[in-house]
Amino acid sequence: MEIRCPVCKETLHKNENTYRCIHGHSFDIAREGYVNLYLHKSETSGDNKEMIQARRNFLNRDHYRFLLDELNRHISEEDILVDLACGEGYYTSRFHSKDKTGIDLSKQGLRYASKSDKDTVYILSSIFDVPLYDGCADKVLTIFAPIAKEEIVRILKKDGRFLLVRPDEEHLFEMKEVLYEKPYRNDIEDIMIDGLVLEKQLKIHQKAILNKEELHDLFLMTPYSNTTSVSDKKKLNSCDGLSVTFAFIIDIYRKI
Ligand SMILES: C[S@@+](CC[C@H](N)C(=O)[O-])C[C@H]1O[C@@H](n2cnc3c(N)ncnc32)[C@H](O)[C@@H]1O
Repeated sequence: MEIRCPVCKETLHKNENTYRCIHGHSFDIAREGYVNLYLHKSETSGDNKEMIQARRNFLNRDHYRFLLDELNRHISEEDILVDLACGEGYYTSRFHSKDKTGIDLSKQGLRYASKSDKDTVYILSSIFDVPLYDGCADKVLTIFAPIAKEEIVRILKKDGRFLLVRPDEEHLFEMKEVLYEKPYRNDIEDIMIDGLVLEKQLKIHQKAILNKEELHDLFLMTPYSNTTSVSDKKKLNSCDGLSVTFAFIIDIYRKI
């Protein structure tokens, strides 16, 4: 996969530990293996260390393996794949494709991802300004992350597919029953993207019994960790184990 210079949009060429374009803009490859193409360094960027570590602990126990397996049913070895907001690469590193690029704004996430997965090109960049060429990808994925609609459509080939993963109504409902006086189910609405047609919608779910540590990690990796009051958070600490529903929607779109 060719990468574009974030400054002048020319192709970046890799030479040992650096990517450089014909205009002399150069970007060092970090020790772990990712390249930082993000130009706006002062802005807040991506998930923090605590969130990334919690997600890593949780995902590495393979509770979401059934989601990964379902996604891989729609991905082939020949696909040129781009994972937008790849986090610490749990899914990216396990996708079947041989040509993979993972993009995220979290340095900590990409450190983990690129340290252990040398088969994927990991780029620190905003998913709203992707340093890749128009029509370069067969498959683009976004898993539990913001949807960069215009960039997704731009980088997909004609007939390429966009796979969007988001929580379904019942996702983590039992955890919300512990946390909140009035637990709520997630609102689900159809997401329309100009230039793409929704081809298929899959709903998959599974239950698991989680111990205290797993519950803690799961909570930290969700948006609830930012929105829950201190007193509600304490309720989870007094919970030694819980049977929890994992429920996901996979929307598969085709570029027209
Ligand atoms: C909930 S995490 C999901 C990570 C991964 N897809 C997964 O499921 O394990 C959301 C990710 O989106 C990234 N993110 C949020 N806004 C972003 C942006 N504008 N550009 C790139 N990454 C972004 C965060 O850094 C974080 O890694």
